[in-house]
Amino acid sequence: MRKKITVVGAGMVGGSTAQRLAEKNYADVVLVDIVEGMPQGKALDIQEAGPVLGYDSELTGTNSYDETANSDIVIITSGVARKPGMSRDDLLFTNMDIVRGVTQEIAKRSPNAILIIVANPLDAMTQLAYDISKFPKHRVIGMAGALDSARFRTFIAMELGVSVEDVNGFVLGGHGDTMVPLSRYSTVAGIPITELMPADRVAALEKRARDGGAEIVSLLKSGSAYYAPSAAVVSMVDAIVMDKKKIIPCAVLLEGEYSIKGLFVGVPVKLGAKGVEEIIKLNLTADEQAQLERSAEAVRELVDKMASRAK
Ligand code: NAI
Ligand code: 2OP
Repeated sequence: MRKKITVVGAGMVGGSTAQRLAEKNYADVVLVDIVEGMPQGKALDIQEAGPVLGYDSELTGTNSYDETANSDIVIITSGVARKPGMSRDDLLFTNMDIVRGVTQEIAKRSPNAILIIVANPLDAMTQLAYDISKFPKHRVIGMAGALDSARFRTFIAMELGVSVEDVNGFVLGGHGDTMVPLSRYSTVAGIPITELMPADRVAALEKRARDGGAEIVSLLKSGSAYYAPSAAVVSMVDAIVMDKKKIIPCAVLLEGEYSIKGLFVGVPVKLGAKGVEEIIKLNLTADEQAQLERSAEAVRELVDKMASRAK
């Protein structure tokens, strides 16, 4: 039987995610949005591509949650996206209200689902979804590291003129300006990039990865990235649906791992049918650890802001 996957928010990331999922042919997809007609229109449009592309996935567009009942996976993209000059953190209070309401609706109807959060600021929104849903921690996962690492891998491949297939990369930490590209663990055919290019080029690629979201926002001018984000989401869904045990950096609840406690922060995890099946521990240098802790502090500030507003 095909899986049932709900995508909440049928905007740029949500619509593109629904399309990519339909093309995988392993799930029926429910697309939810508050805008009347829009999720229905996108769902029907994607459905009508089925005969051309050869998939049987069923698409449902809706403005209510009844159709989402008993989803296996729910992807939450609903929220405002940033415009030029805005940081991801500027979205905090607006998206907090949206993600809270959506999570309540989803948790009631799909109590066994795995939640993948996409709305920004990512780590704080994932923490909120965890608090509201009361799902176990292995079923609440934030998507950011898959995207940030894909950007880093792209820039490494462009710099060295090699296939992206040969490039692995890890970006850890919060999905914000303090994220931590881990060059020592980023490799081309197994060779660390620190051995393949001078330190100033490594630093330049790390910076470009850190600014990767803003680079797209400044080009698009009217919203943020969605092709690479939706591909990153679907790589996580693939790992879960096909029980791949794939190692992907994701925002997960740390309870002492990496010396971080009670916060959702991006670290490498093993993703499989149960969701987060293991948190992978990397040996970090003192400098890398300090960067990760700084990034976690930035996440904690947002979580504290949410808590003080909620009072
Ligand atoms: P968008 O504006 O195109 O789509 C958002 C959709 O959410 C809209 O269609 C809107 O009507 C809908 N929405 C708003 N409130 C809702 C509610 N209560 N229930 C259901 N739907 C609701 O924005 P886009 O580009 O799709 O981005 C969505 C979010 O994802 C943003 O917060 C953005 O910053 C974030 N994002 C995160 C990434 C990551 O790496 N974690 C990557 C890319 C985007
Ligand atoms: C990105 O990194 C906006 O967080 C989104 O593209």
